[in-house]
Amino acid sequence: MDRNAGALVMRILVTGTASGIGAALMTMLGADAIGLDRHGADLVCDLADPAAIADAASRIDAPLDGIAHVAGLPGTADAAIVLAVNCLAPALLTDALLPKLREGAAIVAVSSIAALRCDWQADALDALLDGGFRALTHHAAKLAGPEAYEVSKAALSRWVVRQSAQCQPRGIRVNGVSPGPVETPILTDFRMTMGEDRIAAAAGLVGRHGTPAEIAAAIAFLLSAEASWINGIDLRVDGGFHTVRAMAA
Ligand code: NAI
Repeated sequence: MDRNAGALVMRILVTGTASGIGAALMTMLGADAIGLDRHGADLVCDLADPAAIADAASRIDAPLDGIAHVAGLPGTADAAIVLAVNCLAPALLTDALLPKLREGAAIVAVSSIAALRCDWQADALDALLDGGFRALTHHAAKLAGPEAYEVSKAALSRWVVRQSAQCQPRGIRVNGVSPGPVETPILTDFRMTMGEDRIAAAAGLVGRHGTPAEIAAAIAFLLSAEASWINGIDLRVDGGFHTVRAMAA
């Protein structure tokens, strides 16, 4: 695929670019975007490893126009690793890169509509975020993998709100994107942890699952100057699934 087709010419760091939504976003952003993943990326980095995150951040030159935190693990993985990659790594990577982000830069984190199933209150999510990698095993001990996925995405959405308020004085916007089911390799794991029926029911209500390009387009928009007055929101990108289900209940 031509990575420059329709390029927005922005120097954005994108995580999770070896597959699915992250790969689709790289195609949209063009050659100036920097990809990060465990393998097959401009920057090879294990986001479960704080030292590797610090090293990757040190290898990125300023100025950066933005960050798209797309990498994620499903609930079939170990709970501690799910929490590390899905919500602690974006926070740590952002902290390390803040000095390199230009004024007017934008950050987008890919959460999930699965976050809506998490019943943790804001103070518990804050404790998880503030405990960082040091307190991971403590939090993970209470969670099985599938629940860890929901908690990790709720914590990530909470982080978006907190980081948005913190970055606002510097003119840096922070937003979230919450997809419903999307046709990528991770969907096979979701079928195992959430149940084949639940995933099929989503497509039954809105006709199909989303495509990686449809999610990438929403992320690219929030990163762009066209979204300059959108800050601190969570944009649900699910073909209306959540709304249709709520109206049918
Ligand atoms: P995917 O499995 O195709 O891609 C995930 C990427 O994250 C892979 O390239 C993988 O190598 C990378 N990754 C995983 N662990 C990593 C680590 N330790 N270090 C560095 N990179 C790592 O899945 P997809 O669908 O593209 O997922 C992207 C994001 O969208 C994830 O955060 C996922 O939770 C979220 N999402 C996906 C949905 C779906 O149905 N596909 C629905 C809702 C949210």
